[in-house]
Amino acid sequence: MSSPDVKKFALFVTGTDTGVGKTRVAAGLLARFRAAGMDAVPMKPVQTGCRLAKGRLVAPDLDFCLRAAGLKPGKRELADMAPYCFRPACSPHLAAKEAGVTLSLPVIERAFRRLSRAHEAVVVEGAGGVLVPLNERQTTLDLMIRLRLPVLLVARPGLGTLNHTLLSLRVLQEAGLTVLGVVLNQAKPGRWGRIEVDNCRTIERLGGVKVLGCLRYGAGVQSLFDTRSTRVPGGI
Ligand SMILES: Nc1ncnc2c1ncn2[C@@H]1O[C@H](COP(=O)(O)OP(=O)(O)O)[C@@H](O)[C@H]1O
Ligand SMILES: [Mg+2]
Repeated sequence: MSSPDVKKFALFVTGTDTGVGKTRVAAGLLARFRAAGMDAVPMKPVQTGCRLAKGRLVAPDLDFCLRAAGLKPGKRELADMAPYCFRPACSPHLAAKEAGVTLSLPVIERAFRRLSRAHEAVVVEGAGGVLVPLNERQTTLDLMIRLRLPVLLVARPGLGTLNHTLLSLRVLQEAGLTVLGVVLNQAKPGRWGRIEVDNCRTIERLGGVKVLGCLRYGAGVQSLFDTRSTRVPGGI
């Protein structure tokens, strides 16, 4: 628990797609914050693709972050950390519809505020990308706007990332959100050559943001934002 005079901090981790490394990056950030002595906790507002364990749905992304952070929250906090859990691995709006549930942004916001009051920092991981639908009308972008959080964008480093990353940045910036920067994460084995190096520079130039870190395939989550291991030779 944090005392009232501790400065609060939260951020929203989004990505250009599903599978780009949002969970890995969120877990890395949490681990760094906690190693620095900060009372930081994770939140996954909408989790699809949950597994069933002992009759309860387990949110895999939240689970990964909790393990990386060495946290074992109680039942009530767990419910706030993952307020909406669904079994099918599909878009949140579809999973919710199939379960007969309408995802409510106020419900998510109340859970977030409780976590934020109780802790120094909250690292929120969105589902999929910026315009992933949450219900018939609203998307993850609406949730980010409602929570008014600065955003970190996780993207692929290689071929194809420029369009996805610049599109996502354009939408975030036009919505008036603060973009903290981009992390390029290599979720699959591969080279790091001239394309990846140029992508870093091009995203910074055309996206008007910093590429804060590059996480190579297989690098431990703890190494994120450790400049010695994230600095790519010939890169940023
Ligand atoms: N830097 C990395 N090195 C090795 N595996 C990675 C890396 N980043 C992601 N992965 C793997 O790729 C998959 C997708 O990553 P994840 O963080 O779950 O993406 P997202 O949260 O965006 O869906 C996971 O199996 C994860 O372990
Ligand atoms: Mg994830």
